[in-house]
Amino acid sequence: MSVKRIGVLTSGGDAPGMNAAVRAVVRACLYHGIECYGIRRGWNGLINGDVMKMDETKIAHTINRGGTILYTARSEEFMTEKGQKKAVSACKFLGLDSIIAIGGDGTFRGARALSRHGINVIGIPGTIDNDISCTNYCIGFDTAANTAIECIDRLRDTMQAHERCSVVEVMGRNAGYLAMYVGLAVGATAVLVPEKPVDFEKDVIEKIRQARFRGFTHYMIVVAEGAGSATDIAKKIHEAIDMEPRVTVLGHIQRGGSPTARDRVNATKMGYLAVELLLAGKNNRIVCTRHGDFIDVDIDKALEDTKRLQSMELDVMTAMTGLRDNA
Ligand code: F6P
Repeated sequence: MSVKRIGVLTSGGDAPGMNAAVRAVVRACLYHGIECYGIRRGWNGLINGDVMKMDETKIAHTINRGGTILYTARSEEFMTEKGQKKAVSACKFLGLDSIIAIGGDGTFRGARALSRHGINVIGIPGTIDNDISCTNYCIGFDTAANTAIECIDRLRDTMQAHERCSVVEVMGRNAGYLAMYVGLAVGATAVLVPEKPVDFEKDVIEKIRQARFRGFTHYMIVVAEGAGSATDIAKKIHEAIDMEPRVTVLGHIQRGGSPTARDRVNATKMGYLAVELLLAGKNNRIVCTRHGDFIDVDIDKALEDTKRLQSMELDVMTAMTGLRDNA
C-alpha cells in the first residue's frame, strides 16, 4: 500500500521531547512530499476526527518545548472494539493510510488494534517511565531524570544544613527505572523500586544506620511511587528510629520542562525513522534503541515482554548504598 497521508498523535502521559518527535515526523513527511495530519488528544481525537493539517508553521519553535502541541489523553473508548471500529472509519473518512503513535505501552496496544483493522501503524516510545521492553530508551526519560536530580540536589542542601532525612517520591507507577537512575545520580542512601519487594528493616533502616555509622549526618531515600508512598515510608522511619524525615513528592514537575539535548535528538531520529519505516512498507512496528543503534521491533512481540531492571544497576546500587554482611 502506498503511503500518501500520515496521521501523527501523542497518547498517554506526556513526556518532554514528544514535540520534537512530532516535528520530525512532519518535517520528514514534507521532505518526502507526503501529507501529514496532527491528531489532537490521542486516540480520542482519531475517533472524533479531531485533526489539523500540519505544515512548517505548526511545528515551528516546538523542538524546545515540553508538553505536546497535539495534546494527549488516555482513551477508554479506544480500548473497546466499538471505539477501534470508529477510529478505523475515521481513518478511512480522513484518507489516513498510516498512523504514527507516540506514547507508552497503552498507546501501542491501541496501535496494534488499529493495525489489525488494516491501518499501517508505527509506534515511537515516549514515556518518562522508560518501561517499554523493546527499547533501552524512551523519549522524556532523560529530561525527567535530570529534573528530578536537580530537585534532589537542592533538597540535599537543606537536608545537610539541618542534618535531616529526606524521603523523595519520584514517578513510576509500575516501573523503577527513573528512581534507580536518579538514585544512582544523587548518591541516595536507599532506593525503593516496585520491581523488588521491600524489606523495610534491611532496605531502609539498616541503610540509614550504616550511613550514620560511617559518619553521615543526612540521608536521602528515593522511592518510586509504585514501591510505596513517601509519607508512609517517612512515618515508618520515624517509628523505627529517632528521626523526623521530610517528605517531597516530585509529581508532575518531572513531566514538564524543556527537553534535554538527548531527548530532542533521539526524538528527532525516531520521528524521522518512523516515516522511513512506513515508506519501506513496514507496519505494526515500534522504533527502538538498543546499545546505541536504532532498530524496529514488532509491536506484538514488544508487548509480550515486561522490561526488567538491569541486574547491573541493582548490583551497583547495592554496593553504593551498603556494606557487605561480613564487612
Ligand atoms: O507517564 C507515566 C506516569 O508518569 C507514571 O509514572 C505515573 O504514575 C502516571 O504517569 C501519572 O500520570 P497522570 O497523573 O497523568 O495520570
